[in-house]
Amino acid sequence: MKTVADTHTWLGTADPEFLDLAIAEVEAADPEAAVQRLVEAPGLLWVCSQRSFAALAQDWQVVPPIFLRHICPIHQEWLLSGGSLGKLSLSPDILGGIDPGLSFSVQTRLFGELNFKPFQVNQALAEQVISATGAPLEVKDPQQILSVVILALADGIRVYLGLSRALQNLSNWAGGIHRFRRDPGQISRAEFKLLEAIQVFQVPLQPGGRALDLGAAPGGWTQVLRQHGQEVTAVDPAELDGRLAQDPGIHHRRLSAQAYLASRPGQFHLILNDMRMDGRDSARLMTGFAPHLEPAGAGVMTLKLPGHRRLQVLQQTLSILQGTFPVVKARQLFHNRSEVTLYLQPLQKAD
Ligand SMILES: C[S@@+](CC[C@H](N)C(=O)[O-])C[C@H]1O[C@@H](n2cnc3c(N)ncnc32)[C@H](O)[C@@H]1O
Repeated sequence: MKTVADTHTWLGTADPEFLDLAIAEVEAADPEAAVQRLVEAPGLLWVCSQRSFAALAQDWQVVPPIFLRHICPIHQEWLLSGGSLGKLSLSPDILGGIDPGLSFSVQTRLFGELNFKPFQVNQALAEQVISATGAPLEVKDPQQILSVVILALADGIRVYLGLSRALQNLSNWAGGIHRFRRDPGQISRAEFKLLEAIQVFQVPLQPGGRALDLGAAPGGWTQVLRQHGQEVTAVDPAELDGRLAQDPGIHHRRLSAQAYLASRPGQFHLILNDMRMDGRDSARLMTGFAPHLEPAGAGVMTLKLPGHRRLQVLQQTLSILQGTFPVVKARQLFHNRSEVTLYLQPLQKAD
């Protein structure tokens, strides 16, 4: 198979609030990298690195960055004057780099005032790919992705386009923006945060598993756990939403997590923690609960990062957890607000 030339120019995406930490991650991986914030596109970084996109992507597949949410290469670039897009023609190099045996998707992100929509660009480019290569289009879970980023500038339009394997991008979703359909029965927006964590970390959820939800009220995470067939012990001094009251699979303990820990809880397959408290205190509580986690179980916790000294709080929290949990993964998820989500495993599982 002919592969599209590896590039050293690429785009990175992070939450605008954590862009400085994402830049630090790029610089740690490649101290020679030139990194620019794109003012027209909050949260977007243009990078020209000494190491190639493929080399960095390979490293980050093994140990993903925390704040850099998505990366995509730049193989073609246009600067168009005026406000209209016209016809974008994929170069022979890009078309030749598409593996006809692998599914593909086009993911377009637009920034600023533009008179067209992402789906129009997706459709026009997907047609070119299909007629030139015959590769199957698979929007949800593609194996290769054509990433398109279009910026409205004061005097024209800039288009970046690049081809990569989905795994290289750190997320299958355009820019790592993972949207879920809003369920009319949703109890809290926090539900999206857990749904995203389940997918990103591939949280094990065997049917009939026992889950402990610390800081459960009003009950969004508890509801998601029930939808995944878990029996839930929900710990929170506050009330749970009334819609959960009749569910025999939910055991509400109206206690603080500290008091519940002192009451000799049983064993759980999953321990979740979305408590609103200092991250280091929250981590110490998770280590206290570790003996109550089954060996093949897992923990998920959100870690609030205060505006000041947030890197220090993150590092201190990770070092508290690493003493007890051999595997600690951290990602700043799309649905996190001023926080990151941590995934904890008491034992390294053989893959
Ligand atoms: C962000 S809310 C949790 C939202 C919940 N995950 C959901 O999906 O609905 C934080 C909760 O942590 C609880 N909390 C704070 N400190 C706690 C403690 N020491 N023990 C138990 N719960 C606590 C609060 O009462 C509050 O309900």
